[in-house]
Amino acid sequence: MAKVRFHDNNEYLTGESVISFLDTQGIIYEHWGVDRLDEQLKSNYSPTDEEKQQILDAFKLEIDAISERRGYLTADIIVLSDKTPNLDELLVKFKNEHHHTDDECRFCVDGHGIFAIKGKDDRYFDVEMEPGDLISVPPNYRHYFTLMDDRKIKAIRLFVTPAGWEAIY
Ligand SMILES: [Fe+2]
Repeated sequence: MAKVRFHDNNEYLTGESVISFLDTQGIIYEHWGVDRLDEQLKSNYSPTDEEKQQILDAFKLEIDAISERRGYLTADIIVLSDKTPNLDELLVKFKNEHHHTDDECRFCVDGHGIFAIKGKDDRYFDVEMEPGDLISVPPNYRHYFTLMDDRKIKAIRLFVTPAGWEAIY
């Protein structure tokens, strides 16, 4: 279950208050869980194409439902870990604030990630994602991404179009 941390006073929201707060901000949050995945599919940070497809297949119902609502046309798997070449360089890039003209939708399969988002009242907050959490940041919300102490995430990405997901800094 995701947590929210406000940048200005370091206060946290947990549990149901995360869901209601994100709803007020227009941020889509869902909890799909990862109990349906076996240990290999969760822990392997060099997944084969077949394993990536197995993960996508395991969440087909949920992916189809949100894709229909939000117009997503493609799904893939992204993996970041210390096995990723230039992880530190990538993290510097991801920490640059930007927005997109489409949703940025991520489902956390394993590891953790932080979306830092500029809210409707210009107040910045982190959404700390853990396995089983889905977040979709709608168009034009300024945000950036970073990892947590475990420095790894495996996530499903859902797209409308790759072009719409290009970062606008
Ligand atoms: Fe982004």
